[in-house]
Amino acid sequence: MKKSDVVHMVLGDKQAKLPRRETAKTWASGNVALCKYWGKRDQEINLPVTSSLSVSLGVEKGATTTLTVSHRSQDSVILNGQKIEWTSAFGKRLLQFINLFREDTQICFDIDIQSTIPIAAGLASSACGFASLVMAFNQIYDWKLNESALSILARLGSGSASRSVSQGFVEWRAGIRRDGMDSYGELVPATWPDFCVGLLIIDGGEKHISSREAMQRTVTTSSLYSAWPMKVSRDLSALRKAIEEKDFLLLGETAESNALTMHATMLSAWPPVSYILSKTIEAMQKIWRLRDEGLSLFFTQDAGPNLKLLFLEKDAKTVQTHFPEIDILRPFARI
Ligand code: PMV
Repeated sequence: MKKSDVVHMVLGDKQAKLPRRETAKTWASGNVALCKYWGKRDQEINLPVTSSLSVSLGVEKGATTTLTVSHRSQDSVILNGQKIEWTSAFGKRLLQFINLFREDTQICFDIDIQSTIPIAAGLASSACGFASLVMAFNQIYDWKLNESALSILARLGSGSASRSVSQGFVEWRAGIRRDGMDSYGELVPATWPDFCVGLLIIDGGEKHISSREAMQRTVTTSSLYSAWPMKVSRDLSALRKAIEEKDFLLLGETAESNALTMHATMLSAWPPVSYILSKTIEAMQKIWRLRDEGLSLFFTQDAGPNLKLLFLEKDAKTVQTHFPEIDILRPFARI
């Protein structure tokens, strides 16, 4: 199955439409997985081996995309004020993605993406970037797609982008179809106003190995990977229960254990993959110590050395005292 086939299935007749507006501006928030997506069953259209569940990063951390029909004969992309060259790896990936959405190759676009999340540092920058881009195409072409359809299209850019179309807790169901039409993010109907995420940046630089390559290597070489789907299935049930019953302890324990298991599968890949730096370990140990002393504080970690701390508003001041450098986000503050 090719990406263009999926686009065809989602858009149908709408694909032949011409832009209906000169410009569109959209925003999508980043997301952090509490139960991770690690491994694809289809690498071309980003179908996951398992389902996953995330919480969005609220109104402060995400991407704003301004898409404008260009009067020049070439597309242009500016990311955080910097022009992206089409010959760069990111430029090529983006061009391939943009091309999926235009039947008429005469039409060119100026794309301006402003991201408040460090790029490629394992902080979900690609998720909100691709999600906001798809939402901008939806506006400019006036496709009027629903969130499931937008999520499927965003997934073609990056798997985790399928969870950045909606805001709040989002479950991306793996689906079983080969065309992936049942693989999209769905909002979990719950809010948790005092839920906090603290971004602990340990190293904001670009990751040394892409999550795409790292997850594929894990799937093909790690002897621990066969246990991952079972772990995910148990963790998803626990997380659904924790969210429904506002059981923070259950949520924190499940999310932290899920992240550690994902990193353990990577470590057991060959050649081994590790995003963990010594400072990451130090921060983990500090969290474990604080927890032994009674603080309800947990963490999760993605494809980068940084940690996302999980805690409730009542503990925000204490957490900030121990980690003065964290950026505290409140995912449900203004939803
Ligand atoms: O969507 P990708 O290809 O950037 O992969 C995301 C992988 C993790 O962030 C590590 C896990 C997740 O579920 O977001």
